[in-house]
Amino acid sequence: MKILITGGAGYIGSHTIIEILENTNWEVIAVDNYSNSSEKTYRRIEKITGKKINYYNIDLTNLSLTEKVFYENKDIIGIIHFAAFKSVPESVEKPLLYYHNNLNSLINILKCQAKYNIPNLIFSSSCSVYGNLDELPVTENTPLNTPESPYAYTKQIGEKIVDDFIKINPTLKAISLRYFNPVGAHKSGLNGEVPIARPNNLVPYITQTAIGKLEQLTVFGGDYATNDGTCIRDYVHVCDIAAAHVQALQKLISDKNFPKHSIINLGTGVGVSVLEAIHAFEKVSNQKLNYFIGNRRDGDVAAIYANNDLAKKMLGWTPKYDIDEMMNSAWLWEQNLNKKQ
Ligand code: NAD
Ligand code: WQD
Repeated sequence: MKILITGGAGYIGSHTIIEILENTNWEVIAVDNYSNSSEKTYRRIEKITGKKINYYNIDLTNLSLTEKVFYENKDIIGIIHFAAFKSVPESVEKPLLYYHNNLNSLINILKCQAKYNIPNLIFSSSCSVYGNLDELPVTENTPLNTPESPYAYTKQIGEKIVDDFIKINPTLKAISLRYFNPVGAHKSGLNGEVPIARPNNLVPYITQTAIGKLEQLTVFGGDYATNDGTCIRDYVHVCDIAAAHVQALQKLISDKNFPKHSIINLGTGVGVSVLEAIHAFEKVSNQKLNYFIGNRRDGDVAAIYANNDLAKKMLGWTPKYDIDEMMNSAWLWEQNLNKKQ
């Protein structure tokens, strides 16, 4: 059975390919245009799994090139659509780039899904679709607020596009997975996130500070109404996220009664503050991090974390890793990445 993974050279895509190769007999076809990654990812996957994969260098906003993949692989049974641009601040600077890339690539994938009658789709969504919230934890029934960025809009609209499209195609099914804050790396330390520019996200910022690539971490705000004054997020190990994709696809493939389109949160359900995350890093790395408490960052919410009951119920998914393991693997990866340079 062939599975098409778009964005396969990226952070979550590559961990999902590893999960598939290690735990299923599915054959992987990966597509990426390396706009935020490189072909080297596939060498890391091969090293970890000992298996070769087929991959294409294709921009999914180009329909005829996208269709080539489906034409050449008529027996694809499922698609996991990761490919997208994901930087919140960049999307504010370059909204058209984000709407063009994220929506046109999704639309092209859906056109091919219908034309080649591929029964199953998993769409990468994000907790950013919820916008600013008052009630926690967040369930899938929590009404969606206005997204805070063009990036978040592409995910809200993306879910709606998937929903409208699946409704009118009797043979097709989909699951949209709303990830909270995926972090960490493969336990081997041989694959992880490779931020191309200066990172915006907390965990790569922590590890790059610790290794000396960055001088100091600024904690964005120490005066929020939380236990220690810093923001709370739901960090979830990238390998748990990867496992959820395998479980979701298995459900779609094997359970004839599974709903046409489900929308499911992927988070641990545990809120962790920025200071708690830093302290977890200091504990596992056995070193002090150079940080200070600075001003709040525009657009940050004080706290957000998931209710993950639906993922447990519908997918049988329970996250395995805690914040210490997330930090430990991210640190191992950062050290390995640095050795190679
Ligand atoms: P990533 O940037 O590491 O991976 C995305 C991959 O898609 C990259 O390798 C990039 O080169 C590729 N890509 C982008 N546009 C493309 C196009 N037009 N054609 C072909 N390839 C293209 O990002 P990630 O962290 O692995 O995220 C994967 C998905 O999960 C994205 O849809 C993202 O929005 C979503 N998501 C990520 C997070 C997170 O914090 N990492 C959280 C929620 C949702
Ligand atoms: C986490 C916490 C910061 C950097 C983003 C996207 C969201 C989703 C996940 C894709 C916050 C604090 C950070 C730093 C800090 N992605 N922080 N100093 O903003 O929760 O979510 O990634 O869908 O859409 O918005 O993640 O890692 O940027 O921040 O204090 O240098 O760390 O204020 O509280 P965020 P993040």
